[in-house]
Amino acid sequence: MKKIVVLISGSGSNLEAIAKACQNNTIPGSIELVISNQPNVKGLQRAEKYHLMTQTINHTDFASREDFDQALAEQVLSIEPDLVVLAGFMRILTEEFTNAFAGKLINIHPSLLPEYPGLDTHSQALANGDLMHGVTVNYVNNGLDSGPIIAQGALKIDPSQSEAKLIQRIHKIEHALFPKVIAEIAKGLISLQGASVKFEKDSHFGKNNMEFFNV
Ligand code: GRF
Repeated sequence: MKKIVVLISGSGSNLEAIAKACQNNTIPGSIELVISNQPNVKGLQRAEKYHLMTQTINHTDFASREDFDQALAEQVLSIEPDLVVLAGFMRILTEEFTNAFAGKLINIHPSLLPEYPGLDTHSQALANGDLMHGVTVNYVNNGLDSGPIIAQGALKIDPSQSEAKLIQRIHKIEHALFPKVIAEIAKGLISLQGASVKFEKDSHFGKNNMEFFNV
């Protein structure tokens, strides 16, 4: 069983999708700790629903980004995790943190990277009249949303739909794709080798890591 730590900042719907997949053994692993940098968020309630251990490390209690990241790293390290999952964790991490967990740290981002790193991806895709939008799961490196891509899920934008509807559709992809990627990492089918993602031959993502979703 792989030991997983999940970092969140908000609603935690991705955390819930991962928790379900651990519970029904789709992911051969267990969430040992959920850490939120925001107090009283819905994600913490969801974690409690699954009887997960939770902790809040409020970034506003720290004088600097470095101090916060150090406290965060200490808590994560205390679990000796196999995998650290950023599931809607809305903080930029220092190089010290990303280096400490290199190869074990993954993120989900709501765009088809390298398109739209950073915030407000949905509104940018709509404003630019894009035909496609999607999500990316990647290993985290020292850059902003620039780490090696593991898998992407795409949808066709319906320009008549609202941004809220687009976000809802993106979430559906995330909840399907993220647990699937985590399951493969936990099974040793996906790993980071230097700056490249290595897919073993049984990996679903090895041949095609960009999937279209009809959501
Ligand atoms: C997701 O859309 C994820 O891609 C982004 O933040 C959102 C988190 O949603 N990084 P939730 O907290 O998992 O519901």
